[in-house]
Amino acid sequence: MNITKMNGPVYRLGVNINEKGYLFEGLWPVPNGVSINSYLVMGEKKALIDMTQETCTLMDSLAQQIEQAGISPDQLDYIIVNHMEPDHSGMLRDFAKTNKKARFICSEKAVPLLDQFCSIPADRVDSVKDGDTLDLGGGQILTFYMVPNVHWPETMATYLESEKILFSCDAFGSYGTVEDAVFDDQLSEERAVFYEEEALRYYANIVATFSLFVDKAIKKIADLEIKVIAPSHGIVWRKEPQRIINDYKRYASYANGPAEPEVCLVWASMYGNTEKAVAPLIRGIKKEGLDVKVFRVPQDDLGHILAASWRAAGLVLAMPTYEYKMFPPMAQVVEDLMIKKVKNKKVLRVGSFGWVGGAEKDFRTRTEKAGWDIMDSVEFQGCPNEENLAQVEEAAGELARRIKEFTA
Ligand SMILES: Cc1cc2nc3c(=O)[nH]c(=O)nc-3n(C[C@H](O)[C@H](O)[C@H](O)COP(=O)(O)O)c2cc1C
Ligand SMILES: [Fe+2]
Ligand SMILES: [Fe+2]
Repeated sequence: MNITKMNGPVYRLGVNINEKGYLFEGLWPVPNGVSINSYLVMGEKKALIDMTQETCTLMDSLAQQIEQAGISPDQLDYIIVNHMEPDHSGMLRDFAKTNKKARFICSEKAVPLLDQFCSIPADRVDSVKDGDTLDLGGGQILTFYMVPNVHWPETMATYLESEKILFSCDAFGSYGTVEDAVFDDQLSEERAVFYEEEALRYYANIVATFSLFVDKAIKKIADLEIKVIAPSHGIVWRKEPQRIINDYKRYASYANGPAEPEVCLVWASMYGNTEKAVAPLIRGIKKEGLDVKVFRVPQDDLGHILAASWRAAGLVLAMPTYEYKMFPPMAQVVEDLMIKKVKNKKVLRVGSFGWVGGAEKDFRTRTEKAGWDIMDSVEFQGCPNEENLAQVEEAAGELARRIKEFTA
C-alpha cells in the first residue's frame, strides 16, 4: 500500500483486510473487506494517530508506510491512541519494545488498558481530557475530544486545528477496503453510495448499541469547523464531510424514532411450510408500495440482517416451532436484535407448527422489552391452506400501512 499525502503535513496510511472468510471482531462477515487507517502528522514532532491489528503482515505494511513518509517508526514522538480495540491498538505492544522514546497519548480510561492489553506501563503514557491540546511544533496542534462508547468507553477523537481535520476513529467509519481512491472526491457517486451502505452495515454491527453516545458525540463536534473527516475505517470525507456526519446522525436516530418506510423480512423453514408464507408476505407489503429486503436463516448472515433491520421501520419474522421454541437460528436473530437495541419497530410474526406450537410464546417472551409494536401473529398447523395464506397477505398489508403511518 502507498501512503497518501493529505492537506498540510498529514499523511493517510492504511491496511486492508480482505482475506476470504475473514470475520471482523471474530463475528461479522466482510465480503468487501475492511480497511484500518492511521494518520501521520508531521510537525516538528511526529505523531501517528492510531495503529493496526497485531498480525505480521499488517504491522510490516504500516511500518513500511511510515518509512515512505521519510521517517522510521523509531523516530515517532507520539502515538495517539484514540481507541484501545485491538484492530487499532494490537501493534502497540511490538512498537513499544523497539521505540523506547515515544509517548502514548490517550484518554484517562485508556491508561490501564494500555498496560493490560499491550504491556505499556503508565509512565510511558500521557492521558488527556476533553479539550486538551498537544503542540507538535510547526503550527500543528492536536486537540482531543472524548467520545465515550463510540465505540468503547475510553474512545476519543483527535482534531488538527491547522487543517480542520477530525480523526474520528470508529465514528464515521465504514467497511469496504480502500485502494487508490482514498478521498470521497475521487469516487463516482455509485462508489460513494457503496461506502455509505458499508457504513450502515458497519454501524449496525459495531456501534448501533451505543447510538445514544453517537448522538452525543455528533452534538459535541457540532461547533468545530470540520473540513475533513478522517476515520479509522473506510474513506476520507473531504468533499462532503457533512455527508457521512448526516448519515451517522440518521443511523443514530433510528434508535429512538422511526427508521425508513421499508421492511426487513427474515424467514426460516425446515420442510417448506413456513416458506409458503413468504411470497404472500412480500406481495402484501409490495401492494402497499413498500420495499422489502428478504433474508433466510441460517443461510444468510446476521451482519447483513442487522443492517437491513436497523434501517427498516418494519420487521417480519417468519419461523416454525422447534422443540416448543422458535426455530433456533431465528431465536439467535431475535437475540441479536435485542443486544443491538433494535427498537421502535412495527413487527409481524408468522409461522407453522406441528401439534401445540411454542414459537409464539418464546417469541413474545424474548421480545417483551424490545419496545416493538407487535401485531397479532398468523400461525398455521402444518401446511398453510388458502385461507391461511390470504390471512398472511392481509396481515403483511396491514403491517405496511402501519409503517407508512408511523414514518409519515
Ligand atoms: C426437530 C423438530 C422439532 C419440532 N418441534 C415442535 C414443537 O415443539 N411443537 C410443535 O408444535 N411442532 C414442532 N415441530 C413441528 C414443526 O413445527 C412443523 O413440522 C412445521 O410445519 C415446520 O414448518 P416448516 O416446514 O416451515 O419447517 C417440530 C419439527 C421438527 C422437525
Ligand atoms: Fe472499535
Ligand atoms: Fe475499529
